[in-house]
Amino acid sequence: MSGLLGVAVLGAGHMGADHLRRLDRVVSGARVAAVADPDTERAREAAAGIDGVAVHADAEAALDAPGVEAVLIASPGEAHEEALLAAFARGLPVLCEKPMVPDSAGALRVVEAEARLGRRLAQIGFMRRHDPEYRRLKSLLDGGRLGRPLMLHCVHRNVSSPPHFTSAMLVNSSVSHEIDAARWLLGQELTAVTVLRPRPSTGAPEGLLDPQFVLFETERGALVDVEVFVNCGFGYEVRCEAVCEAGSARIGEAHTMVVTAEGGAREEVPQDYLVRFADAYDREVQEWVDATRQGRVTGASAWDGYVASVVAEAGVRALETGVRTTVEPAPRPALHAPS
Ligand SMILES: NC(=O)c1ccc[n+]([C@@H]2O[C@H](COP(=O)([O-])OP(=O)(O)OC[C@H]3O[C@@H](n4cnc5c(N)ncnc54)[C@H](O)[C@@H]3O)[C@@H](O)[C@H]2O)c1
Repeated sequence: MSGLLGVAVLGAGHMGADHLRRLDRVVSGARVAAVADPDTERAREAAAGIDGVAVHADAEAALDAPGVEAVLIASPGEAHEEALLAAFARGLPVLCEKPMVPDSAGALRVVEAEARLGRRLAQIGFMRRHDPEYRRLKSLLDGGRLGRPLMLHCVHRNVSSPPHFTSAMLVNSSVSHEIDAARWLLGQELTAVTVLRPRPSTGAPEGLLDPQFVLFETERGALVDVEVFVNCGFGYEVRCEAVCEAGSARIGEAHTMVVTAEGGAREEVPQDYLVRFADAYDREVQEWVDATRQGRVTGASAWDGYVASVVAEAGVRALETGVRTTVEPAPRPALHAPS
C-alpha cells in the first residue's frame, strides 16, 4: 500500500473526536477520508479543519466513500456488530473501540464472520496493551524474574460516570479493560468470576451499585481482584500490582507531576482516561496504521474481544445473582489459535 492510509471514522463522540484529531495531527501514514455519525452536526464539528473529509449520517455510506481503505469504529458498542460485518464484507481492516460487541452472541458472530474470511481484519481497542507501563509489566512477567504470578490487584476509578451508566456497565464497560489486560498480562484465561457489592457511595447516582469488587479466577490458579469505583469524585486512577512468587511490581502511579508550593507538595491526578492513556491511544492507532499499511494485523484480536464479552457477561450474572459464575466461551477458531 502506498501513500496515506484513508480511514473512515464511525462515531464522532468523545472517543471518535479524539481519534479524528489523532489521525489528522498525531499519527503518521494516515489521513481521515470520511466520518459518519447520525448526529452530522457533531461529526462536522469534530472534523472541522481536517481537509477533504466527507461527513455522512450513515456508516455504510462512509465505508463506500472514495479513498476509504480502513475503518476506525468509535460508535457506541451496540452499533459495532453491524459496522464490523459491513467492514468485513468490503475487506476493510478495522480498529474497533472496546467493547467489540457487548453481547457475546453478537461478538461470536463477528469472530465467525472473520474466520469465514480466513484472515484477520480486526484489531480491538484495548489500549492498555499499548501503554508503556503495562508493556513493561508484561515484559517483566514474561521474563520470569519474579517467578510465577499469584495475584493481580487492580484499581479502576473514574471521577464520575455518564448519566446512562448502569450497575452492569461497571463490569461490562469499565472492567472490560481489566479483563483484557489480565488475560494478556498473565497469558491465562479467566475461568470464574464473583462480584461483591459494598454499600454504595453516597456520591454515586441513586440506584447505581458503585463501587464493586470483582474477583476473577484464572485457569492456572491465579486470582485477579478489581476495585471498580466510577463516581469516586477525586480522579481517574488505574493501577495494577502483580504479586509473584519472588517479588511484586506496581504500575499506575507514575503519571503525575508533583507541585511543591505554599509549604506542601501536591501530586496531580489525571481526571480522565484521555489524559492518563494519551500515549497508549497514540501508540495503538500508530501501530494499527503501520500494520495495516504493511498488510498485517496486531493488537487485541476479535477473539480477545469475544472472550472479554463472555467474561463480562459472566460478571454481570455474578453481580445480579451474588453467586460465583463460571466463564464458558465457545471453541476457539483455527484463525485465532494461540501463536
Ligand atoms: N478505549 C477506551 O478507553 C474507551 C474510552 C471511552 C469510550 N470507549 C468506547 O468508544 C466508543 C464510543 O464511546 P464515546 O464515549 O465516544 O461515546 P459518545 O456517546 O461520546 O459518542 C458516540 C457517537 O457515536 C454516534 N453514533 C451512534 N450510532 C452510530 C452509528 N451507527 N454509526 C456511527 N456513529 C454512531 C453518536 O451519535 C455519538 O456521536 C464506545 O464503544 C466506548 O465503549 C473506549
